[in-house]
Amino acid sequence: MRFIGNKEKLLDDIYQAVSDKNISKGVFCDFFAGTSNVGRYFKQKGFRVISSDLLYFSYILQKAYIMNNGEPKFTKLIKEIGHSKKRFFSSSFDSIRDHLDDLNGVEGFIYKNYTEEGTRDNTHVRKYFTAENGKHIDAVRQKIEEWKNNKIITTKEYFVLLAALIESVPFYSNISGVYGAFLKQYDPRALKKLKIKPMQFYGGEKDHKVYNGDSMKLIGKERFDILYIDPPYNNRQYAPNYHILETIAKYDSPEIKGVSGMRNYENQKSDFCNKNNALLALEKIASTAKYKHLILSYNSEGIMAKDDILGVLKKFGEVELKNINYRRFKSNSNGKSKDKKLIQEQLYLLTSK
Ligand SMILES: C[S@@+](CC[C@H](N)C(=O)[O-])C[C@H]1O[C@@H](n2cnc3c(N)ncnc32)[C@H](O)[C@@H]1O
Repeated sequence: MRFIGNKEKLLDDIYQAVSDKNISKGVFCDFFAGTSNVGRYFKQKGFRVISSDLLYFSYILQKAYIMNNGEPKFTKLIKEIGHSKKRFFSSSFDSIRDHLDDLNGVEGFIYKNYTEEGTRDNTHVRKYFTAENGKHIDAVRQKIEEWKNNKIITTKEYFVLLAALIESVPFYSNISGVYGAFLKQYDPRALKKLKIKPMQFYGGEKDHKVYNGDSMKLIGKERFDILYIDPPYNNRQYAPNYHILETIAKYDSPEIKGVSGMRNYENQKSDFCNKNNALLALEKIASTAKYKHLILSYNSEGIMAKDDILGVLKKFGEVELKNINYRRFKSNSNGKSKDKKLIQEQLYLLTSK
């Protein structure tokens, strides 16, 4: 999933850093989870994962990928809708995807507020989705809620289907990477008819835990072998950049404002996006949490300077710094490599006293 700060390409480096410390099992905490990619990876490596994020759509991904072990059976739902005849062999999940793809569109909140057709009589005309895809997102979102309310799906299945929708939507959004603004002309990706993407399921037996909350408040509650923290590194808050995914996730018809149709995000602001608060927040985590090893992922261009970070972390134990050269996409680059910028991703490894 395209998400600022997604660590998908750095997972092996993070794991290498952990292996170098001879840690191969235990409790892995990912309290700035975002896409949940880091937690998924460490879950596959046999760790028990505890994760959290301020964003509700991240919580949905964590529920589906971290807390849920394996592919749900969807027994009741499949009895109701039957297996798909579109493929030679359809798993339950594929059959549900086909069913959702075939739903008739509904003129709901997304269509009415984030499509050109739905907003044409409003002060702000918005082009985040085509009318067809906007209606389709509403139809899928409402159907998943209806199945949950009618007890045709379990809570686990509910979060898996929501995660599938959340991960599919960015492939059809008329944006350059984030939802702070839409493109004036339709990008070819936005013109394709929305289909629900396949998902990878992660098995296992462990009792993983996930939260939707402020890490600063949760941090003292548990004991971790590895406390991995990957906070924002500049002053751009995440909630406004992903506001439409948040609204699809919550589907709570919020009051929205301005050209982009932004929901209120007062309770989702991060201390790490503020130069004056970031170091204090880091110190609070390092001093309050109970961990053997703390790993901070940061960036050479971040608002906390390297020496300041080292100064804070060294109060709590021995610190090692690893630099990883990395090409990061710029949000308007469409993935073209000439627009990728070489930056240094940093891993600070603190072993507590
Ligand atoms: C750099 S991203 C994490 C990316 C993630 N590691 C991944 O691979 O997708 C930072 C995340 O921290 C979350 N966040 C920021 N401050 C937070 C806080 N105080 N508590 C919980 N989550 C926070 C943001 O919502 C965002 O999802």
